[in-house]
Amino acid sequence: MGKHIISVDQFTRPDLEELFDAARSIRRRMRQHDRGLTEICAGFVMASLFFEASTRTDMSFQASMRRLGGDVISVSNGIQFSSMYKGENLADTVRAAGCYADVIVLRHPQVGSSYEAAYYLDKLNQRIRNRTVIISGGDGVGEHPTQALLDLFTIFDQKGTLDHLSITLVGDLLNGRTVHSLSKLIAYYTPRGVRLNFVAPDALRMPPAIVAMLRDLKITVTETDTLADVLGESDVLYWTRVQEERFTPEEYDTIKDRFILLPQTLAEAPKNMIVMHPLPRKHEMGTPEDHDLLDADPRAIYFEQMENGMFIRMALLAKVLRGAYV
Ligand code: NCD
Repeated sequence: MGKHIISVDQFTRPDLEELFDAARSIRRRMRQHDRGLTEICAGFVMASLFFEASTRTDMSFQASMRRLGGDVISVSNGIQFSSMYKGENLADTVRAAGCYADVIVLRHPQVGSSYEAAYYLDKLNQRIRNRTVIISGGDGVGEHPTQALLDLFTIFDQKGTLDHLSITLVGDLLNGRTVHSLSKLIAYYTPRGVRLNFVAPDALRMPPAIVAMLRDLKITVTETDTLADVLGESDVLYWTRVQEERFTPEEYDTIKDRFILLPQTLAEAPKNMIVMHPLPRKHEMGTPEDHDLLDADPRAIYFEQMENGMFIRMALLAKVLRGAYV
């Protein structure tokens, strides 16, 4: 309660177990149309500050807050009409939101922006005796902690355990913040016998610092540029988009077609493997016709993953704003 949520580094296994229990309880209560859920954050206000494109993260946070009875504010007509347009800096914009809201969800293109926001927010909180917290919705190519929480929750939901799983992450592992956060969070859960397989072309490999950290935490890491090396042993296949916005158009063109998940790829994969994707997807899952074929495969669970995002964010908002209430 009362903590900023900026990095997966903040989470231990007991924290994750507590959060996942809360998410399961919230999911059950939502399915029973339990009106009591709307008392949990009644009277609280969430500010949504998104300086980068978003569909799922923004909508699911807003839906979560409303389903818990809270209110949501954002700059009318979008951030492009905020005072940032007049040249205001992030620190001041965040402090404005901090005066009006109890929790701020921030997505910003700069790595470390959530830490900067939290620093200035803490100063403001001291000054006006407030307790506004910040939750990161992604900081550039850095981290995306709430996505990792919902991804890990989904793996537990589908597999019941992390122990002895072979988890294969494919695509833009260099710039994809979801895979940075997820691989660290898996290690922080301290599972037994997990294998992480990173499949990427040379130019898009997982940052060496993350690979080294995982190995220090006794996770078995395999790096390859050939999916066939690890597909047959994979229990989880986590596919990602090449982060087009982080490249020049020429660079993007040379790598965009390197890994494409097609129905025939799944034909060669284990029958009980699950396919995850943080979405949005583009041609890394082929054409719209391929999308339809992939979606029809029972192993494709990215829509469940997407829905879990709301349950996890509801649990997180409840914990951060109300403590052990759920
Ligand atoms: C991801 C993101 O924004 O990092 N999307 C999401 O939040 N579900 C993944 C992506 O943009 O590729």
